[in-house]
Amino acid sequence: MSSVRGEFSSRIGFIMAAAGSAVGLGNIWGFPTQTASNGGAAFVLAYLVLAFCLAYPALMAELIVGRHGQANAVKSLQKISKTKAQKAGAFAVGFGGIICAGLILSFYSIVAGWMMTATLEPVAQVASQDTVANWLSTQSLSRDLVFTAAFILLTVAIISRGIENGIEKWSKRLMPALLTILFALIVYVFMQEGAMKGLKAYLVPDFSLILEPKLLISALGQAFFSLSLGTSVMIIYGSYISKKENIVALGTYVTLIDVFIAFVAGLLIIPAMYVAQELGVQIFSETGQLLSEDTLVFTVLPALFDSMGDIGLFIGFAFFALMTIAALTSSISLLEAPVSYVVEQFGLTRMQATFGMGAIITLVSFTILFNFSSLFGFVIALTTQYGQPLLGLMCCLFVGWLWNRTSLLKEIEQGSPEIGATFFWKIWPWYIKFVCPIAISLVFLSKIIDW
Ligand code: TRP
Repeated sequence: MSSVRGEFSSRIGFIMAAAGSAVGLGNIWGFPTQTASNGGAAFVLAYLVLAFCLAYPALMAELIVGRHGQANAVKSLQKISKTKAQKAGAFAVGFGGIICAGLILSFYSIVAGWMMTATLEPVAQVASQDTVANWLSTQSLSRDLVFTAAFILLTVAIISRGIENGIEKWSKRLMPALLTILFALIVYVFMQEGAMKGLKAYLVPDFSLILEPKLLISALGQAFFSLSLGTSVMIIYGSYISKKENIVALGTYVTLIDVFIAFVAGLLIIPAMYVAQELGVQIFSETGQLLSEDTLVFTVLPALFDSMGDIGLFIGFAFFALMTIAALTSSISLLEAPVSYVVEQFGLTRMQATFGMGAIITLVSFTILFNFSSLFGFVIALTTQYGQPLLGLMCCLFVGWLWNRTSLLKEIEQGSPEIGATFFWKIWPWYIKFVCPIAISLVFLSKIIDW
């Protein structure tokens, strides 16, 4: 480790960790499901444009604030504030982001726990442990409590090891594993009946749908969730980037990887849905709507895997193991947000902070599980539909309006001295000042008004 507070030891380590945070359940299930329910290829096209034109500039803002501040989100944002009121605002945005990250982690762990049960169920079947297999595949409070806690414990174990040995090392191992399983599954699904129909729905856009407000808003929301924006997570990851690195190039790689994996996941899931349909599983209603978004993964896919015979057990195991891995590289970034704050603000050791935060998150997750019907959907809506867009917007305002342009350029020039003459520098400050805040406001307003 090159400094006391920890730093990524290599470019590839940072890229893997930040891409690991970005790539998660949002890409591998959220993106394909949204694609299917929002007009197929038209949604894919809108998503690609919005991810690069709006989410990418916002990601750069967060990374740059973090590297400039060299501290947690609160301190980093305060460093670019001048007046007392601005500093109070910086506290609200940074701290709000940390709370938002903690809340996202509490529901994310529940869903990831389901992924773990689905991973282990085929293993129990192969071992002829029918009672266990049954317990794993049937939703119950006891099962959910056990696996939510198990997932949080896994996250805690990685985070307690710090930046280089924890986050960086594990992301470097898990991310390539994820890609390998994803591609193997795509090859399998492409050989099945019905896959080509799915591929066509995924890749041939109906241009008349592209300007639908609902489609655009869903695509923008998905892009922001997918790049882990608005929760202070990317500010913190930015603070671990060395001043010698070309930060613009790093942010670009992370965006490319995130979008690429979402696109590849779509290549798997959309054709897989049509293959399932070919096998008699109903996935669309008569009006052409997707039947049930949230539970699709736990109904359609196991049905698909079952129909494959014995090999289906292995495929099912591989697929859900992939989902668990993707969730883990995201959850470690979510836990790092409160942990780094507590370590730097209250002087706790990383070990104390990680276990303390892990315990609090577990408590919140359990509270959600005990009051599932009233809290689960509420926490998801509160954090992803309101918290993230609002905090992301504030972050852009900080960089666009409060940060002096010369000092901003100075920060970015470290590691990329030629940046002042590039296209990026001509267009990005303007984007952060006007385009991003207006576009995010539109998403945010649309949730309130529900067009
Ligand atoms: N981006 C991840 C996904 O697509 C989830 C995630 C990780 C996240 N960290 C985040 C979402 C911070 C919002 C904020 O699944």
